[in-house]
Amino acid sequence: MEAIRPKLFDFRGVAMTNYFTDNFDNVEKFSAKPDDILIATYPKAGTTWVSHMLDQIYFGENSETLKSLPVYERVPFLEMCAPKHMPGVELIENMTSSPRLIKTHLPVQLVPKSFWEQNCRVIYVARNPKDNAVSYYHFDRMNYVEPEPGNWESFLERFKQGQMVFGSWYSHVKGWWERKQTNPRILYLFYEDLKEDVVRELGRLCDFLGVSLSEEARDRVLRAVGFQNMKDNSMANYSTCAVMDHSISPFMRKGMVADWKNHFTVSQNEEFDEDYQRRMKDTTLTFRMEI
Ligand code: A3P
Repeated sequence: MEAIRPKLFDFRGVAMTNYFTDNFDNVEKFSAKPDDILIATYPKAGTTWVSHMLDQIYFGENSETLKSLPVYERVPFLEMCAPKHMPGVELIENMTSSPRLIKTHLPVQLVPKSFWEQNCRVIYVARNPKDNAVSYYHFDRMNYVEPEPGNWESFLERFKQGQMVFGSWYSHVKGWWERKQTNPRILYLFYEDLKEDVVRELGRLCDFLGVSLSEEARDRVLRAVGFQNMKDNSMANYSTCAVMDHSISPFMRKGMVADWKNHFTVSQNEEFDEDYQRRMKDTTLTFRMEI
């Protein structure tokens, strides 16, 4: 596999790579439809899990499409513009299904304005920063369109400083949390809650969407989005994605809460906690580092 790792640069105050900014003129001009559903996350917070869940909720009956198209084509990545891939905006514009499920990692201030004008539903998923950082580290090791991750120690420092693609975890989760306070069309979910009780969270999601599932359909969705089933499903596990090397670390890696304990040293954890307390002082948003 060719190493085409990009460099980070500042884009409107957010660390980015060219794969997410090259098509930004078209991203900004993107014309959302009122029934579009935007799935927004900081990378590695459970985007694919919730994308697959939404896909199953809306199109699960129609399983032929689900069996033949990978999740990154069924739920296109709005700002993505990488070599040998159709840009996200074009993929979305070519979609014929309704509602269109759209993925973004953009911080709230960079989301194209038509999503707000059209009053689209947005599902934001957040994950505690320690597990988020660990998952991001392994992802950057196996994904050649991500910047070089370096070793864990240096990666963690850069994570704290916001020197990651899509910028600071703190700004991202807090920015979306603040917007949610005044916008009832945003549902804010937590990875830890999904792990704790996926049946409850699926119920919240369906209530928010105004969708009523039969018991049979609900069980089908729950089966499909189970970690092992997604890991075994080539349309959900990114095994068809040419820029990833799953022999380094699989995309569907561990899918657990508190794996950070296997990565953080005692002093890394103490320093992280101190920094975290300081930076989360100005928000009502809280995270569970374990469940
Ligand atoms: P880990 O690396 O901790 O295993 P994203 O889709 O935002 O890139 O997030 C990927 C993370 O979500 C990975 O975390 C992956 O294993 C986890 N994940 C994906 N599907 C999951 C599922 N069905 N249940 C639990 N975790 C899941």
